[in-house]
Amino acid sequence: MPGDRTVGIHDLSFRTGSLVLTHAELSKHTGASLAKYHQGIGQRAMSVPAADEDIVTMAAEAAAPVIERHGCDRIRTVLFATETSIDQSKAAGVYAHSLLGLPSHIRVVELKQACYGATAALQFAAALVQREPEQQVLVIASDIARYDLDSPGEATQGAAAVAMLVSARPAIAAIDRPSGLHTHDIMDFWRPNYRETALVDGKKSLAAYLAAVEGTWRDYQNHQGLAIEQIRTVCYHQPFTRMAFKAHRQLLDTAGVSSSDTAIAHAITPTTRYNETIGNSYTASLYLALAALLEGDEDLDEATVGLFSYGSGSVAEFFTTRITPGYRTHLRTAAHTDVIARRRPIDYATYRRLREDTLPDDGTQHSLPHQALGRFRLSGIAGHQRLYEGFRPSN
Ligand code: CAA
Repeated sequence: MPGDRTVGIHDLSFRTGSLVLTHAELSKHTGASLAKYHQGIGQRAMSVPAADEDIVTMAAEAAAPVIERHGCDRIRTVLFATETSIDQSKAAGVYAHSLLGLPSHIRVVELKQACYGATAALQFAAALVQREPEQQVLVIASDIARYDLDSPGEATQGAAAVAMLVSARPAIAAIDRPSGLHTHDIMDFWRPNYRETALVDGKKSLAAYLAAVEGTWRDYQNHQGLAIEQIRTVCYHQPFTRMAFKAHRQLLDTAGVSSSDTAIAHAITPTTRYNETIGNSYTASLYLALAALLEGDEDLDEATVGLFSYGSGSVAEFFTTRITPGYRTHLRTAAHTDVIARRRPIDYATYRRLREDTLPDDGTQHSLPHQALGRFRLSGIAGHQRLYEGFRPSN
């Protein structure tokens, strides 16, 4: 029975920041044409975390519905992937574990490799579940993309968290073997420990991303991967959504398939709906693309869907998933549409104030205003410790 050995995504839930800055509002400040934002980079708005939101609160918001639906009895591991780490030592997932009221008999760890971390987490989770099929792994990807104010990258910022429950006999998508892998030491995007914002060489990063598409595909083929014709469509990491269209062109060229711009648009547009309004959410971005595809109109029962993950620096992976028949009844389309729709619009001045108000780093006490729309919030900082409020049902 092939179904007995399948492992993959059993549930997928995402949340984003409580505030939203549109590119129409941003363009009033930058002077860039809206066409550059809407067509050139494919972005219409960016989620902005409220003053009392961070990667932990977004992660807990994303994961709480998963725990409510499935319980936590079988979860033995929480893997928290992020580029936006809040501590050099303690894993952000330990705070999320506490807020979610998870039991103590769980291992929790944080993973980092820019926007690739969640894919590593997903693959490690799949291996753990293969080894012990009764256990489940909670994978959380949570990031806030921040570039320097008034830099070209600013228009691609965003924030979101995705929680995925990895399980045997998954209700949504099975993770296939093999993977195509590609690592290349390059300074295209990085963030030294003393910086809040990323350093980036924009054009170099685009070229490095496209080289990684080619590198992963070639490695995938060298490991007896599927032919391109067997893959219905591909979800890509979306630092800005136009990147996915460029990437698909690169993949098809590498695979030796000619394709029109119209055909590429037809394949990729269903994957961009969430990211074009949320912005870059680094390691969560690929899985928002997958959510958009699954929650769109197309019937994907038993379809093979490719996933391309890219983390600057750089590490990349191409792999495929097989969509489980009946997956639609397990999706969270209404909740996802709702969290996007109820974000509070802010003007440019408010966004700029939020960006400029940084948390103290000298251990003094600091309270944060109540702005978050969700049930978890960062209430302040005292004695160098972050103080969270919300939920914590049972531990
Ligand atoms: N109408 C329509 N299109 C327009 C236009 C207009 N009026 N004006 C410009 N454009 C188009 C340009 O032609 C260009 O399209 P092409 O690339 O297809 O030619 C596009 O809009 C962007 O214009 P520019 O290249 O002039 O934009 P820019 O100099 O402002 O920088 C950027 C764009 C390099 C992506 C910048 O936003 C950036 O540095 N972003 C951060 C880095 C990044 O996202 N890199 C992606 C790969 S790395 C990665 O994936 C990891 C990660 O998450 C960071």
